[in-house]
Amino acid sequence: MQTSTIPTENTQSQPFQGQNIVIIGGSSGIGLATARQAKNAGANLFLVSRNPQRLRDAAEAIGGATQIVADIAAPQPAIFAGIDRIDHLLITAGTVHLQSLKDQSEADLLKVISERLIGPLLTVKAALPLLHAASSITMTSGQFASRPAAIGAVVAAAVAAVESTVRALALELSPMRINAVSPGWVDTPLLDGLMGEAKRQVLEQTASTLPSRNIGRPEDIAQAILFLMANRFVTGEVLHIDGGGRLV
Ligand SMILES: NC(=O)c1ccc[n+]([C@@H]2O[C@H](COP(=O)([O-])OP(=O)(O)OC[C@H]3O[C@@H](n4cnc5c(N)ncnc54)[C@H](OP(=O)(O)O)[C@@H]3O)[C@@H](O)[C@H]2O)c1
Repeated sequence: MQTSTIPTENTQSQPFQGQNIVIIGGSSGIGLATARQAKNAGANLFLVSRNPQRLRDAAEAIGGATQIVADIAAPQPAIFAGIDRIDHLLITAGTVHLQSLKDQSEADLLKVISERLIGPLLTVKAALPLLHAASSITMTSGQFASRPAAIGAVVAAAVAAVESTVRALALELSPMRINAVSPGWVDTPLLDGLMGEAKRQVLEQTASTLPSRNIGRPEDIAQAILFLMANRFVTGEVLHIDGGGRLV
């Protein structure tokens, strides 16, 4: 396990030099893009997700990271065993379960809430002893909080709750900072599962309706996340990176 002391100075080219960044959901999409940018900025990376092979591939792709296999939908009190300090915690883990309430069993409903809200809250709780006053936490919301899908009431509720949570925890955990990023449509493996072969066509059509006239790349969201981690004056914020999707 890597050990180091709390960094006291940053250089412009390596602003996260020596800092420990933990990314829950770091093996794919937005989490992986953030891991890559953070690694290039000098951070020590700890990637957490369920599939060990994807974790290994991700760690290799970014040039090295500590890998932790865990499912945050289930209680994980020992998830951070072996880490001595967390400078920045990012939670991007999540799948999308779009189902109408009338078709959703209680077990399905609880699974969504566990993965998107209870799991992230317990993960923050488990990290508290390792975080310090200058640490940051970044959670992930999503456009369904303000622009819900007709078959996504439970997902909408869960991501909206994440947004309230960061405002409340910004007060409770002060002076530590906690924010959320709210991505719009971002071309990641998540959408392969959601849209299948229609993905390219759906994304092109969606892009044409957005003020930005494009779809997000994981790198666009990663850049915003690193901003939230680095900026010492931003807390309790939900940063929407959505090509203007909330406006149309
Ligand atoms: N892409 C978009 O358009 C979009 C839009 C709005 C919001 N979001 C949200 O942004 C977040 C990241 O999305 P993405 O597009 O980057 O997805 P992605 O490419 O599918 O990556 C998701 C990551 O989370 C991990 N993961 C999923 N469930 C997990 C669990 N229960 N425990 C631990 N790790 C878990 C996955 O690895 P394993 O499967 O191996 O565990 C993977 O590393 C998600 O919360 C998503 O809902 C995405």
